[in-house]
Amino acid sequence: MNLSGSVVLITGASKGIGKALAITLSKAGAHLALVARSEQELKALQEEIQALGGKAEIYVGSVADEVFVKASVQATVQVYGKLDAVVNNAGFGVFKQASDISVQEWDEIYETNVKGTFLFCREALPHMKQASKGHLVNIASDVAKRVFDGGSLYCSSKYAQDAFSMALRKEVRKDGIKVSVVYSGLVDTYFHQRTQGDPHQAKYLSAQDMADTIAYILAAPDHVVIDELMIHPMAQEY
Ligand SMILES: NC(=O)c1ccc[n+]([C@@H]2O[C@H](COP(=O)([O-])OP(=O)(O)OC[C@H]3O[C@@H](n4cnc5c(N)ncnc54)[C@H](OP(=O)(O)O)[C@@H]3O)[C@@H](O)[C@H]2O)c1
Repeated sequence: MNLSGSVVLITGASKGIGKALAITLSKAGAHLALVARSEQELKALQEEIQALGGKAEIYVGSVADEVFVKASVQATVQVYGKLDAVVNNAGFGVFKQASDISVQEWDEIYETNVKGTFLFCREALPHMKQASKGHLVNIASDVAKRVFDGGSLYCSSKYAQDAFSMALRKEVRKDGIKVSVVYSGLVDTYFHQRTQGDPHQAKYLSAQDMADTIAYILAAPDHVVIDELMIHPMAQEY
């Protein structure tokens, strides 16, 4: 689709990949709905986008909150009149031996990485079905396809997010709705409990690399769908 005038909702937009994507899509002319829990960061991003002449609504809350997700999707459609795409990007990791993982950590990871993706897809679908088109882009990880010692919680959540996406793709293709999944390696963001730009992450993909890749997926013509995209920094073996 031509991104100019398209309406895209991005979760996890307050920093990292989501923030870089918001600025990139805004520069391409997209109208945005930005979701995260950090109000200050979202407001600052909204001001940055508006100063560049773009349009951005912000919705402050957790992707795990069903009432909030319903309300933010409805508000987006009310403000812009449509919803062309959702990028399910909000997520985080906990890396521990399975014997050390608390039930609270387990639930929080699954609520964000899996349930959040499900809720935003579910709420967006009626609007997309009505329009006979739409695009759901789910940001998984290369660990949706491989596992490592200490990754039982995070990897299993990304496998679940991926399996949900693959099944959903089969359900909604007949409705003209695309489902894309991005499997990425290491990205220089706040994800690794370091500040974005930390020298330890110098050889990782940048948030901008990811933003450009996701924008490319979103900009594919109507008759083209990039179902899956695997991306790594050259410095990372896969
Ligand atoms: N960085 C990597 O190496 C890497 C590799 C593969 C995949 N990924 C995936 O990429 C995605 C984005 O991560 P990132 O690297 O950009 O990390 P990040 O810099 O830590 O950003 C994570 C974003 O998710 C939001 N978020 C977390 N929990 C949320 C919740 N419950 N509700 C709403 N928003 C929530 C955060 O905002 P608030 O805290 O303001 O809510 C923040 O905007 C994640 O799904 C991650 O699994 C990252």
